[in-house]
Amino acid sequence: MCGIVGYVGHRPALGVVVEALRRMEYRGYDSAGVAVVGAGSAASGPDESAGQRAAESGTVTALKRAGKLVNLTEALAEATATAPDRFAGTTGMGHTRWATHGRPTDRNAHPHTAAGFAVVHNGILENYAALRAELEADGVEFASDTDTEVAVQLVAREYAAGPTAGDFVASAYAALRRLDGAFTLLFCHVDHPGTIVAARRSTPLVVGVGDGEMFLGSDVAAFIEHTRDAVELGQDQVVTITCDGYTITDFAGTQQDGTPFRIDWDLEAAEKGGHDYFMLKEIEEQPTAVENTLRGHFEKGRIVLDEQRLTDQDLRDIDKVFIVACGSAYHSGLVAKYAIEHWTRLPCEVELASEFRYRDPVLDRSTLVVAISQSGETADTLEAVRHAREQKARVLAVCNTNGAQIPRESDAVLYTRAGPEIGVASTKAFLAQVTANYLVGLALAQARGTKYPDEVAREYRELEAMPPLVQQVLGTEKQVRELARELASESTVLFLGRHVGYPVALEGALKLKELAYMHAEGFAAGELKHGPIALIEDGLPVIVVMPSPRGRAVLHSKLVSNIREIQARGARTIVIAEKDDDAAAAHADHLIEIPAAPTLLQPLLATVPLQIFAAEVAQARGYDVDKPRNLAKSVTVE
Ligand code: F6R
Repeated sequence: MCGIVGYVGHRPALGVVVEALRRMEYRGYDSAGVAVVGAGSAASGPDESAGQRAAESGTVTALKRAGKLVNLTEALAEATATAPDRFAGTTGMGHTRWATHGRPTDRNAHPHTAAGFAVVHNGILENYAALRAELEADGVEFASDTDTEVAVQLVAREYAAGPTAGDFVASAYAALRRLDGAFTLLFCHVDHPGTIVAARRSTPLVVGVGDGEMFLGSDVAAFIEHTRDAVELGQDQVVTITCDGYTITDFAGTQQDGTPFRIDWDLEAAEKGGHDYFMLKEIEEQPTAVENTLRGHFEKGRIVLDEQRLTDQDLRDIDKVFIVACGSAYHSGLVAKYAIEHWTRLPCEVELASEFRYRDPVLDRSTLVVAISQSGETADTLEAVRHAREQKARVLAVCNTNGAQIPRESDAVLYTRAGPEIGVASTKAFLAQVTANYLVGLALAQARGTKYPDEVAREYRELEAMPPLVQQVLGTEKQVRELARELASESTVLFLGRHVGYPVALEGALKLKELAYMHAEGFAAGELKHGPIALIEDGLPVIVVMPSPRGRAVLHSKLVSNIREIQARGARTIVIAEKDDDAAAAHADHLIEIPAAPTLLQPLLATVPLQIFAAEVAQARGYDVDKPRNLAKSVTVE
């Protein structure tokens, strides 16, 4: 949610910052902006009226535009066509916004500037109203409706007349100490080219360490093309970067350490690689995502987690499991519930993270809370983790981002190794989460002895056999795309499933809603006749996820009956069924065949056509598949 970048070095900052914003745009695309600190170029006066033109404050030159990054790059091209040196300078910062306070207009776009300072921000400043009133009482005039602007006005006031007057870095600290809420903030100042001060509290920030140049980014994609050496900042840390290096302190200024790490994926992983959009590339990467997630987690006949600060005895003492997550990650948790209860005989509840802590769940030392998050930053999930830990519950994170806040605050971690997911809608991360959740279930079953080692090994082998089957399902792409084009003008699509097919139905509906802006709902097929069947009318497309006829036969026959019920009422049935499932085929107006797989693992296959379907409907309707409206990849506000 909001992408932030910063650069201090020897290259022209504008190019580095704009390229970094391209990679950060998936985090928010309501507006974008840049600021460059020039070393001694002539001041040309503020010019930020309604944000329509380049704004220059001394040698801090800023430009920002509502809408996607392309609006900014066009404006930059125009601004530099007549004055090529306008953005000269080797220190710069940039921002792509997902609006919280203030509409997504030019004037509310970041950077915000005042008296030679520029600031970009991700998060929410919770005490902004009180600070704004205080500053206004002091005669400060605000130029935007954002919470962020108080940060730039505060630092400007401190620098002009506070106890830290004239000291850029100290004034930034003084301003930071006044702020409450969740924030990543970057400060630069006209008289200090070559220095950026940045801070993080509950929202992400990483430092990239180059040769004679330093980078800041909301995530490593911001600087992956320049360096693979990065430093992760902890909660409530402030970093000051110059081209020679960085220093890290707490908010009081006491020296601290960051955590250096080497980025283990390369630029190619963050590029479209010849695909029209990232989502399609990421759908195709799913066999590898599942394979990589499994890799290294079964050694010497035992399931192993990545970071385990819990003993086997701790796991044996668990008497209840809660899974907390949001959106697609939540759906992956719903799938896991069936496996965890079946394998461990522990009760397992799956909760929307945003609801979890507000309903006072019963938690204690013997509760395991599994927090699932691709980004590891989602504010709702992070707060659920914090609440669980306050109540002394054990927390295990399933996360795709090394060292993100959620795994950092958890007792144990299992990383999904899906690689960077840039498309806003989750695809490969979802399949990797389902896979990792199964590993968590097996780890629990192994520690608690509810499965013999050979049974754990057998389940693991079945998981290991899934990537080639996922690959086979990708072979349905052409057929699914054709179907999607045919149905692109429908107003509603319903999804039905039972057992693990029910969360798959929910996930299919979510994908269609978020990408194609189409009314889509997922139902447990058995629930249909308790109300939703009233929605069925002539020609309504209903996508049905059939369980295997071989696994749980009762489930299968019940779902066949459900298909007949809706067909009798005129529904157009699109059935995703195992190959050679003749009973299902007989009732399908349109059949999508997937390979046979164990019942519990079928979601790894049945989800894939639904992802392709949603992406293709969105494309047919002319929407941006990778950047659906109103959304952002990483949701760092509650
Ligand atoms: C939907 C989607 C979202 C995320 C949700 C959680 O396609 O991507 O629903 O799954 O916002 O995000 P993470 O997993 O980063 O916590």
